[in-house]
Amino acid sequence: MANLTATQVFEMRLARSAGDLWPFLDRLYGHREDYDAFRAALLKALQQGWRARPAELKTLDLRRDLEPDWFQRSDMVGYACYTGRFAGTLQGVQERIGYLRDLGVTYLHLMPCLAPRPRPNDGGYSVMDYRRINPELGTMDDLEALAGALRREGMSLCIDLVLNHTAREHDWARRAMAGDPFYQDFYLFFDDDSQPRAYERTLIEIFPNDAPGSFTFVPEMGKWVWTTFNDHQWDLNWANPWVFLEIVKVMLYLANKGVDVLRLDAVAFMWKRMGTRCQSEPEVHMLLRALRACSRIASAAVIHLEEAITGPAEMLTYLGRGEHDGREGNLAYHNNLMVHFWGALATRDTRLMRHVLRENFPEVLTNATYMTYLRCHDDIGWAITDEDAGSLGLSGPLHRAYLSDFYHGTFPGSFAEGALFQVNEETGDKRISGTLASLAGIERGLDRGDPRAVELAVHRILMGKALIAAFGGVPLIYMGDEIALLNDDSYLDDPLRADDSRWLHRPVMDWEDVAAAERGEGPAAQVLAGTKAIMVRRAALPQLHGAVPTRIVDIGPKEVFAFLRLAPTGPVLCLFNFSEETVMLSAEDMGAQGVSQFVDLLSDASLSLQDGAFALLPYGRVWVV
Ligand code: GLC
Repeated sequence: MANLTATQVFEMRLARSAGDLWPFLDRLYGHREDYDAFRAALLKALQQGWRARPAELKTLDLRRDLEPDWFQRSDMVGYACYTGRFAGTLQGVQERIGYLRDLGVTYLHLMPCLAPRPRPNDGGYSVMDYRRINPELGTMDDLEALAGALRREGMSLCIDLVLNHTAREHDWARRAMAGDPFYQDFYLFFDDDSQPRAYERTLIEIFPNDAPGSFTFVPEMGKWVWTTFNDHQWDLNWANPWVFLEIVKVMLYLANKGVDVLRLDAVAFMWKRMGTRCQSEPEVHMLLRALRACSRIASAAVIHLEEAITGPAEMLTYLGRGEHDGREGNLAYHNNLMVHFWGALATRDTRLMRHVLRENFPEVLTNATYMTYLRCHDDIGWAITDEDAGSLGLSGPLHRAYLSDFYHGTFPGSFAEGALFQVNEETGDKRISGTLASLAGIERGLDRGDPRAVELAVHRILMGKALIAAFGGVPLIYMGDEIALLNDDSYLDDPLRADDSRWLHRPVMDWEDVAAAERGEGPAAQVLAGTKAIMVRRAALPQLHGAVPTRIVDIGPKEVFAFLRLAPTGPVLCLFNFSEETVMLSAEDMGAQGVSQFVDLLSDASLSLQDGAFALLPYGRVWVV
């Protein structure tokens, strides 16, 4: 083979992804007078990004070209944490790599670490400089060193790229405020509130309690600016190609520091259209496809995680539907799986979960997979449509209200301990905060000195972990869940956080608890050992690869959620009991799903059958072949 020059490799990558880039930019921006200038500038930025890419990362690009399924493999296990709360600083994180390795983690998501505005900054999601690390956490050199250290351990690094908005202190915003028309076009300004009011007729409130409305008056300018989230988070104007260009430059800059996964924050809101919710408009997908093409051209090892927490059909579009199939996000959060996990735990009834997951989700995705999770740093919103609830004879609003009350802990008989987040009086919507352990019942069990309740809660957690490990996708452990950290209400004493109950489930990592859990004491020890065991088994099973189809099946009892992983070597029947009662399953029904050996791959033991039936214990979980 001839020796290829770096330029030739770039040209080949450009040619490969050209069809994902230019046609969409033509559609989005082709009508503008400055379009040719923009195209030339973008091409130059891509070339420069590629030229600046370190040799080690170019080798990684090649390796991932050869192994494009690297993020779908069964040894992928994710961990998400706040750098400061987990280990103080980026250097501190580097010292904890051994801990992550022992947990089986191969993918680390550091929550916002780019320089935010001074607090309040929405937990770092109000970024004022994309090229600088939050000084409390370290420097860009520290990030680069951490990325290198993780790479040597076979772990990838994910960081947030907030591209729907910047902080009002970002340089672009400052220039806009100072009157520079070029930068004023980076945001969405209005001279009076007539347009904002017209848009607001169809917009949905994101933070109705502490940031009502989607527009903020800027007294310095005498104008209104679009702010979907908090008043300090100014939405970028993606109808302006020069915004696209600047963000591409930032992406390549971060990629060249060794970041493997860009978590593109709040992408649904990137395109505005009067008379709509301004969420998930078709242009959003063109933008995201074109952004992904830019990564593939100049930093091919990098993949995109698109954060869009929406209803089922809408969420799937972020993994590429229709003309974008296989060409948009590589990863997206399966928030519907998460919502229905909690829903079915409350009701001890998996029928709605089965229905939604079977009717709305394909058995297999192209070049993409889910992030499967039980908890994250955000609240739980009950993304259950009225139609889906109705198909099981439930009222959408009443069912959602019931779930809020249940996880708030106020519903009689609830095992959960949580808090409400962003109660919307108008829609009745009430979201929920709380850690995995507290929502699953450990906190209440401990408070009441009820060991049986604690034991059941431990099994709820491990059943959920086994579910997200087997479903198909990258299971994500949210910091502290592995040692069953409880709700932390110290945020109530901090005036800059007290009105945001999401801090309830953002505790500081307790390394003494970790040490105790490692010594084998209490429920935390059970959760830690159980989590590790599940992830170790997952890694050993190619049947759980993300590209293996997942088919939801009906195995009878309403308490049991079941799916098949349709591997070429034969199906794996995964069963999860969502109740505290033992459920009997007939061997015949299991056989009808293609099970013949009756071996549980999770415990690596044969199932014991009695009178042709298998007893699935309370919150039991098995992966049967
Ligand atoms: C995403 C983040 C959330 C943040 C919001 C605005 O949804 O997960 O924490 O508040 O974006 O940036």
